[in-house]
Amino acid sequence: VDPTERAARLVKILREEEFRTLRSVESVCMSSGPSNVERIIFFSRLPKDRVIFALEELNSKKLIMRQNSSYLLNQTGIEVLALKEYVRRNLVEALGKIIAKGKESDVYLAFGPNQKSQAIKFFKLGRISFRTVRKKRFVERSEVRNWISVNYDAAKREFMTLKKLKGHQSYPEVISYNRNTILMSYIEGIRLSSRPGLENPREILDKIIEALRFAYNRGVINGDMSEYNVLTDGEKVWLIDWPQAVGIDHPNSSELLDRDVSNILDFFRRVYSVSVEKKHVIDYIKG
Ligand SMILES: Nc1ncnc2c1ncn2[C@@H]1O[C@H](COP(=O)(O)OP(=O)(O)OP(=O)(O)O)[C@@H](O)[C@H]1O
Ligand SMILES: [Mg+2]
Repeated sequence: VDPTERAARLVKILREEEFRTLRSVESVCMSSGPSNVERIIFFSRLPKDRVIFALEELNSKKLIMRQNSSYLLNQTGIEVLALKEYVRRNLVEALGKIIAKGKESDVYLAFGPNQKSQAIKFFKLGRISFRTVRKKRFVERSEVRNWISVNYDAAKREFMTLKKLKGHQSYPEVISYNRNTILMSYIEGIRLSSRPGLENPREILDKIIEALRFAYNRGVINGDMSEYNVLTDGEKVWLIDWPQAVGIDHPNSSELLDRDVSNILDFFRRVYSVSVEKKHVIDYIKG
């Protein structure tokens, strides 16, 4: 079974004590100091025997991993907590099918109140292989903590950036973020990299440039812009994928903007034979 679908299923059946214990394992994983069952009990504010029972359950459901006398949170454990939080806040009612599986993230369809279509992006940077761990290797808690932080930070950064871009039609409307995930509006479009036939490619290019100008005006440069991060329905465009965005005050902002624009212009020249002068575009974006 797909691990994220498994997480969605577990959200429906875990007991409150198990969620609470799982959150305590997360807190202990993220904190410094000794990591042991006593601290998990302390964080959970549950009776000792209940926590020990819950830990057994979570371990057998493969949401946490036991290592000597301590427990580590794994990817599915995190996803359970994130999804549970969206459900608790009435933002998500059900997880749908996977939309895209990338190197750095998986994106799933999710249904909100009134069956509204949304998308959840799950970050999965620098994965630790828990299977290797189970076999032989001892994992430092700091390694798990770093891995968790990198993914939580990426989600937070993308959320913060998309919030700055709110109100413009060419960006996914961001709804919330939690842990290693962001929740956003679902976009009915396909990647520009699949080279869809466009009735008016120049118009599409202009909309991308307009959106980059809007971002610049809000102080944001994507830094990873290319045909892979543009979605279109042939008429509208959406610029996605913003965890690595930088501010216009970043020391490399000029180079990053230059590269973003070059990627897009090269693509339109190559695929749609639309040529626009780069300097002109950059001046316009900055203007
Ligand atoms: N809001 C959305 N609505 C619909 N589909 C989306 C949405 N956000 C992302 N996607 C789909 O998920 C894919 C990956 O998203 P994104 O580019 O943000 O992540 P990524 O980590 O860069 O993934 P990849 O490694 O595949 O580039 C997109 O190309 C797109 O197909
Ligand atoms: Mg991408």
